[in-house]
Amino acid sequence: METQIIYGKEVAEWIQEDIRSRFDVFQARTGTVPGLAVVIVGEDPASQMYVKSKAKACIKMGFHSEVLECPETTTTPELLGIIAGLNHRADIHAILVQLPLPAAIDKTTVLDSIDPIKDVDGFLPVSTGRLVRGDYRWAACTPAGVMKIFEYLQYDVSGHEAVIIGRSDIVGKPMALLLMHAHATVTICHSRTRNLSEVARRADILISAMGKPGLVDASFCKEGACVIDIGTVRITPDQAWPELLEPESVWQKSFEKKGYATVGDVKFQQLLGKARYITPVPGGVGPLTITMLLDNTLKAAQLQAGFEEDELHVG
Ligand code: GUN
Repeated sequence: METQIIYGKEVAEWIQEDIRSRFDVFQARTGTVPGLAVVIVGEDPASQMYVKSKAKACIKMGFHSEVLECPETTTTPELLGIIAGLNHRADIHAILVQLPLPAAIDKTTVLDSIDPIKDVDGFLPVSTGRLVRGDYRWAACTPAGVMKIFEYLQYDVSGHEAVIIGRSDIVGKPMALLLMHAHATVTICHSRTRNLSEVARRADILISAMGKPGLVDASFCKEGACVIDIGTVRITPDQAWPELLEPESVWQKSFEKKGYATVGDVKFQQLLGKARYITPVPGGVGPLTITMLLDNTLKAAQLQAGFEEDELHVG
């Protein structure tokens, strides 16, 4: 079987064209520029890199972007004050608090203080509640990006067996709900699932979001499956498995250049020739997460400008 590699950049460009044309209409009607504020606490290098990419994508689209960098020692009340200020600003339509937060911060209280209309991550109880009910305006960026992959491929998930490995609030749970609303038959697996590879092998659509490098090997993959790798972990050469260390691999080059490589959950090389579609790491789902953040920011700005829900291009 020939495996088609799905490069996120290509799908992201396709989505960005749509965002651009909706942004043009929005600007013509309201004269407003959508504004995104990203709050980052501490110095985690991976988080800092993600936040920089988010700000860059925002500016490239012509949106207003602000990054609020807070020291590791920031307290929960201080963060609540920052978010309250952003909630009140008319030029900020979207607020994202980059996770993970330092352990000393009360994550739930902080996230729940975001005005729901500015909750572009879709993490608030009202946002997740809407997603459960099916009347959501937008969904968490990474799962929303995965749904765009299916749309791009014209792959109708209806009636297909989808197996999701990982039950996080950010990816696993919203992914399951989006697929369920699209009429897939959904199974969620996690760290306590018995016979994981056997369950995974049932999948027409296999989505792994465990952050466990190398977890998904050929034994997890049904012939012809669509495999989406959402695991994103930085590893050093001593943590790599042999295929990763092949002299020509992109990872080898990354080890040499940066001292680490970003890898997914899937043993990509093993699945080539077995899967019908596969997303690489890096370069697969990553660019879509950022693009869907722009999409969600535009929708939040549209809602705040009084657009009707049916003008938001949901789903
Ligand atoms: N950290 C890693 N992914 C995400 C995400 O989608 N949203 C937020 N807020 N933090 C993250």
